[in-house]
Order: sequence, then structure tokens, then C-alpha cells
Amino acid sequence: MSDLARYRSEFPVVEARTYLISASLGPLSTRSRRLAEEHLDLWERLGPEELWMEHGLPRLDECRARFARLIGAEDDEIAIVPSVSSGLSSVASCLDFADRTKVVLSDMDFPTNHHVWRAQQRRGAKVDVVPSPDGVIVDPAEIAARIDEQTAIVNVNRVLFESSYIVPLDPIVTAARRHGALVVVDDFHGAGVVPIDVHATGIDLYLAGALKWLCGGQGIAFLYCRRDLIARLEPAVVGWFGTKDPFSFDRTELRFRDDARRFETGTYALPQAWTAVGGLEIVEEVGVDRIRARSLELTDEVLRRADEMDLEVRSERTPERRGGLVRVKVPGGEPAAGALVARLLERDVVVDRRADCLRISPHFFNDEGDVDRCFEELAGALYS
Ligand SMILES: Cc1ncc(COP(=O)(O)O)c(C=O)c1O
Repeated sequence: MSDLARYRSEFPVVEARTYLISASLGPLSTRSRRLAEEHLDLWERLGPEELWMEHGLPRLDECRARFARLIGAEDDEIAIVPSVSSGLSSVASCLDFADRTKVVLSDMDFPTNHHVWRAQQRRGAKVDVVPSPDGVIVDPAEIAARIDEQTAIVNVNRVLFESSYIVPLDPIVTAARRHGALVVVDDFHGAGVVPIDVHATGIDLYLAGALKWLCGGQGIAFLYCRRDLIARLEPAVVGWFGTKDPFSFDRTELRFRDDARRFETGTYALPQAWTAVGGLEIVEEVGVDRIRARSLELTDEVLRRADEMDLEVRSERTPERRGGLVRVKVPGGEPAAGALVARLLERDVVVDRRADCLRISPHFFNDEGDVDRCFEELAGALYS
């Protein structure tokens, strides 16, 4: 039994239900709830001046600093954005697609990535989608081979949302560097469960939201921009909080901040800064290395149980390339899988589904008992 078991009581839903869906939505901790209540109390007691200046802006700073530490960045390389989609749209808005028109991404990347880059086709971008050979992995060599002098940017999902395959970044970054292209990594499925040091990877931009493995709730996401790139990027998606002195109320010019916060736009979803800190604090306290080690133990157990039941695993198995979730194909196609997820939910087993596959995603506060219960209910639902 892991010493991380003591964190179970921090996440009440984990005691009440078999919660194996952190890849979709991390559960609420008692810490985040307490912090959310702290925010409500302050909001109730104080006017905007004190709420924002004395509490809100420092909380937002804390979010940036905690996220920066988590990924090996500096505070001034982090912007708070409302969602990964909006952060990525801001990044896209910096590119002019005049000389370099090509955007490389993979057909396993999350749909929002495709939507953002397709929207740029109106501005001259040409989207080059690399197919997966098997619906599980993407070949980094294939992505690297598509990068050329015409490439403006390469969009990579470090951990694929369906199969949880961890895409090796090195060959992609090397090719991008050789050809002068940027690399933006969407790590919504990796941040908080698969360690990363963004400086060591050499990537240019990186995005993740707080709501999945970071257990921080919706409405807050983070954008990292490599420090020496910041001055070169001028977003066309803007707002007063991205400018040098928002409280001067100057409207005569647009002066971007010198740090990554030039990507910030309008008024922040302030309550989320409190809930996000709760999740980030716990993840930092435990440490992503320990989370990773525990995650591998638990996904090992999921694989073992799936094999025992002869269910087809549609995820990577190699530990080094396996993220936090396991995708398991269930017999009977999509409708059967949908009915199965609903049946499991009735029995308080919470997993999710893409097409005809279940996605089972234990986090560090889960234990083997949760996996056991999930598979017992699964067997009951499939074979009774
Ligand atoms: C890899 C990835 N990117 C982006 C998103 C969507 O992010 P947002 O809703 O913050 O735009 C998701 C949602 O699950 C995702 O898995």
C-alpha cells in the first residue's frame, strides 16, 4: 500500500465512488473546497478593491508560480488563459503565415487543436495532418519528416488523449530547430501525471489546463512561452490584462507586457484561482515523480485485469511511453460501450468512453481496490 493512500481522504468522492476518471476531470479536494469558501467569504466581506488587489492578484501570481515550478519554467514565462483552446488561439494569432504557411499536427491530437489551426486557414495557414499508423501512437519521425522551411509551427499533444501514448518530443524539436519552426505542446493529458521540464525539452510553447490531473477545476489554464521568444510574439487576441499598465486606463496605445502575461486578456475567472491552488498545492506536495510512479503501478494493474478478461487494450503498454490512462475496447461496439458506462455509473464506478473503448484513468489517490472494484463491476455488467 502506497503512503499516498493518506491523500484519499482529501478527495471525498474517492471514498464515495470508484473514481477512475481523472484524465477527464480531477476530483474536488477538501483543500480546494476550503479555498473556494475562502474566496466566497472574501467576496462577501470586501469590495472589489481589496478582493482583487490584496487577495485576487496575489492568488493569480501563486497559480503562475506553482504551475511554473511544476513544469520547470520561470514565473514570467507563464500566462493564465481561460482554456487551452483560447491560449492556443492566442498563439496562432501571433503568426502571420506570410513566408511560412505550414502547420504540422497529428490526427491523434485533440479536436480543439485541429479547430484552432483550421480557423487559421482563413489567414493563409496550410494544415498538414500526420496520420497515426494504428490509432494508438503517432510516429515522431513521421512528424519530423513533415517539418520543412515552409513550416511555421508544429502542434504536438505530448500525451494522446485517446490512447495515452507519450509522444517523444526530441526528434520533433530537433527537426523544428533545424528548419526554424516553432513547437507548441498541448499537455493537458500530461501535466501533473507525467513529469516534464520544459526548458530541457527545448519546446517553445506549452499549454495545459488545471481541471484534469491537476485537480484544480475548470476555467483556468496555463500557457508557457520560452523567455527569449516572448518579445517576438505579438498576439492579435488581446485584452487589458496583457498590457503594461492596465490600471492606467490608457486607450491611446497597445503596449504589451514584456513577460508571457502579454497572452492574458480580460478579467480572470477569479474563483478558479483559489480552487486551482488547492489542486496545484497537493500535486506539488506529492511531487509529479511520485505521482508518475504510482500511476504506472495502477495502470499496470488495469492492464493485468483487462488481459485477464481478454479485453483488447487500445493503449500503449510500454511504461516509458504510457501516460495515465488505459483504453480498453469492449465487445458490442459504440452503443454497447455507452450502455456499459451508464451501467457502471449506476454502480458508482466512474470511467469514461471514446467510441467503443472505455478510458480508465486512476490517479495517485486511487488504489488497487478501486481497480479491482471497477473490473468486478465490469465483469458483472458484461457477463451476467
Ligand atoms: C489534449 C487536450 N487539449 C485540449 C483540450 C480542451 O481544452 P479546453 O477545453 O481548455 O480548451 C482537451 C480536453 O479534454 C484535451 O484533452
